[in-house]
Amino acid sequence: MKSGIKFLILIFMSGLLMSGCYYDNEEELYPAPDDCDTTAVSFATDVQPIINDNCISCHSGNTPSGNLRLENYSQISANANNIYSRISLPVTDVNHMPPGIQLDDCIILKIKTWLDNGTPDNKK
Ligand code: HEC
Repeated sequence: MKSGIKFLILIFMSGLLMSGCYYDNEEELYPAPDDCDTTAVSFATDVQPIINDNCISCHSGNTPSGNLRLENYSQISANANNIYSRISLPVTDVNHMPPGIQLDDCIILKIKTWLDNGTPDNKK
């Protein structure tokens, strides 16, 4: 085989290898929405832990931020629309919640699913 052709094959193969790595990394950084299980979103096991992890530190107690408490089902469900619209704003928007932090797509999708389902309280 001519060395020029060998060289071309080598370039082609390394291109394949590199694109393989590129896609692997992309999947790790941005998990496909298919990996997000929204078949049985529940208040107690999905929604409340999301709020507790990301919002409760500011939105609780006697002087909650924005005068908004998100401590229990009735407070969270009453503000579900507002919660969803704030977390889905671009992270650079001044009204985005939590301030300066982008939540995972899957978390946002779970909140949206719960909202679309009519904010059920699975404990009832
Ligand atoms: C670091 C503190 C902090 C965290 C964490 C935080 N917020 Fe806020 N939030 C604020 C402040 C301050 C305001 C008031 C300013 C404003 O309205 O943007 C506010 C306002 C809001 C409002 C508007 C209240 C109203 O009706 O006037 C909503 C809704 C809200 N936050 C939802 C959330 C949600 C949902 C999370 C978690 C995903 C969250 N916030 C996390 C500080 C925080």
